[in-house]
Amino acid sequence: MVDVHLRGIVKRFGKTVAVNGIDLDVNDGEFIVLLGPSGCGKTTTLRIIAGLEKPDAGRVIFGDRDVTYLPPRERNISMVFQSYAVWPHMKVYDNIAFPLKIKKYPREEIDKKVKWAAELLQISELLDRYPHQLSGGQRQRVAVARAIVVEPAVLLMDEPLSNLDALLRVKMRSELKKLQRRIKVTTIYVTHDQVEAMTMGDRIAVMNQGKIMQVGTPEEIYNKPANLFVAGFVGTPQMNFFEATVSLKDDNIVLETQDFTIPLGREFREILADYINKSVIVGIRPEHIYPKTMRPSTLKKASDISGVIDFVEALGSDTIIHVNTGNMIIVVKISGSHRFEIGSPIDLSLDLDKLHIFRKSDEKAIV
Ligand SMILES: Nc1ncnc2c1ncn2[C@@H]1O[C@H](COP(=O)(O)OP(=O)(O)OP(=O)(O)O)[C@@H](O)[C@H]1O
Ligand SMILES: [Mg+2]
Repeated sequence: MVDVHLRGIVKRFGKTVAVNGIDLDVNDGEFIVLLGPSGCGKTTTLRIIAGLEKPDAGRVIFGDRDVTYLPPRERNISMVFQSYAVWPHMKVYDNIAFPLKIKKYPREEIDKKVKWAAELLQISELLDRYPHQLSGGQRQRVAVARAIVVEPAVLLMDEPLSNLDALLRVKMRSELKKLQRRIKVTTIYVTHDQVEAMTMGDRIAVMNQGKIMQVGTPEEIYNKPANLFVAGFVGTPQMNFFEATVSLKDDNIVLETQDFTIPLGREFREILADYINKSVIVGIRPEHIYPKTMRPSTLKKASDISGVIDFVEALGSDTIIHVNTGNMIIVVKISGSHRFEIGSPIDLSLDLDKLHIFRKSDEKAIV
């Protein structure tokens, strides 16, 4: 077990800057997720931690050991990839035993460890089979068993569940997480799936264009996004964004949009003092807007706006309504199934305690 530190990692491929100055501290035994869109540099970062790629600048530190230029085999890491990297000509037992054989463990110890790993992954009955006799999910369990059998200091996983069907993915998510809790191995897990990140990570590092945009617990990432990118990347349906001008009306702050005005009251005077008569980006999640008739009594500060129902998505557990307020569409998520008539007028209440306000210049969160 070890903590992992990245210091100013930069990696270029020709003209492409794949990783553009990354600093990250992963605690001993922590499960951290690198989350971001395709091409943002997740795999490259993971390969640099593994030692499969050398950075152009920066250092990789395990505990108090600088491993930047050490080959993978001297780092005590294991890696699990998206494709089921199991050897087709070897039985499951031999696949799992392989890394131990290379390390020249005695046979009895190999046997003990293989059985331990197989039991953890619930594949004990499959040890005698060949990979072609396994399902995709079982094959991926073999790959994970082989990765943990050496009891690595750091476990690196690159989208290990993305080849599995949706149901199995959900099941494996919680199993991998429980497994990690049990063996407490420091884990760095790459995914572009925000639900996977939210459900598995102790903390999430959200990446974009080779940079880390925010590091935090799933709750922090969701409730206090540090910038527009994180706010928009996490959450389905996506957070609503609209441009507004901050104005002062009779000592009160109001946000004025093309379609409606949101009174924010006095307490925002200080926070938004530098933005009066300037334009900002306002964000509010679909689940923080209610049809006025369904507004919960617990809502403390709300602002009402009106529009016309443009579209309805009935998901069973939730109902998503798209409301046209004149010049924009506001998306609202209500739990449960409800009937709404497309084309009919609707009044909405915005939960003002859940409002996000971002600067236009650098897209950082003000509130
Ligand atoms: N070996 C390489 N040669 C040239 N360019 C590369 C190489 N590896 C990665 N890149 C480029 O570096 C950038 C980051 O790639 P990377 O594979 O790290 O992204 P990613 O976040 O893992 O994406 P995905 O979610 O699609 O797997 C991309 O623009 C990619 O095209
Ligand atoms: Mg990748």
